[in-house]
Amino acid sequence: MKPEIRDMVEEIKRMKNEKNAVIVAHNYQVDEVQELADVVGDSFKLSQYCASTDADIVVFCGVHFMAESAKILSPEKTVLLPEIDAGCPMADMATVDALIEEKRKYPNAAVVCYINTSAAVKAECDICCTSSNAVRVIRSIPNDEVLFVPDQNLGSFVAGQVPDKKIHLWSGYCITHHRVSREDVEKAKSLHPDALVLAHPECRKEVLVRADFVGSTAQIIEYAKNSSHDKFLIATEMGILYKLKKDNPDKTFYLLTPGLVCPNMKKTSVESVYNALKYNRYEINLDKEVAERARRALEAMLAV
Ligand code: 13P
Ligand code: SF4
Repeated sequence: MKPEIRDMVEEIKRMKNEKNAVIVAHNYQVDEVQELADVVGDSFKLSQYCASTDADIVVFCGVHFMAESAKILSPEKTVLLPEIDAGCPMADMATVDALIEEKRKYPNAAVVCYINTSAAVKAECDICCTSSNAVRVIRSIPNDEVLFVPDQNLGSFVAGQVPDKKIHLWSGYCITHHRVSREDVEKAKSLHPDALVLAHPECRKEVLVRADFVGSTAQIIEYAKNSSHDKFLIATEMGILYKLKKDNPDKTFYLLTPGLVCPNMKKTSVESVYNALKYNRYEINLDKEVAERARRALEAMLAV
């Protein structure tokens, strides 16, 4: 680590104590940011943590919808997103107007949104889910019909697991995971025939049917730790390799394709966390009424 970065890390620790702040980071963040965070996890763990922490400031190292969710669950706290341009193209694929239009087509459907949506879209939904609990959330719904927003791949994976419900899919997708193809899996498997394939449900069906395990980032980390296997092909964003390698120094992990990089997750650096704490930036503020309605959807998820 460069001396100036080491100095920044020390100053971050000092400011954190002084301001009663916590730093939370998603599993896709760069190694140095994961290293300095108080909590690292998947979307579900981080939203649970933000609902319960008694810190005054949450510095959210992730993307915009995650910091928004933290603010919705902890409206009295200051929530900072160190890089204001760190968005999620999949979340942008669902707009409020388009959702209202779609809801009219399916008046009997429960509206379930992946946490990768804006606060305004969450406000139009009955319940939220993450990739770790989507199947459980949809099974918990009394309706036979579900409108699932915005990830077509996660939605189709859940539809396969819950065949008794009619699930209407939105056409959104993650630009990073959707790029992986059947050919990519077959090529990687031929190079590493003794490796297990662990895939995120944001990948296409043609990838998921060839995987040995499908789960959220935290579930992939848990699976690799408990498995007696020692080689794995990883079909999710490369940031996860940091924890996989740290937890399992004797196991080998290969990224399934070199393209598994989310540019938005890579925007946050030690320097941006330093600036966030020093200048209180960039603060997430939400319309009160929207936040209140979105909170119902998130709390319904946390109660499942
Ligand atoms: P999880 O950490 O919940 O698996 O989410 C993956 C993701 O794409 C977040 O943007
Ligand atoms: Fe959005 Fe995909 Fe990046 Fe997650 S990995 S933040 S879904 S673009």
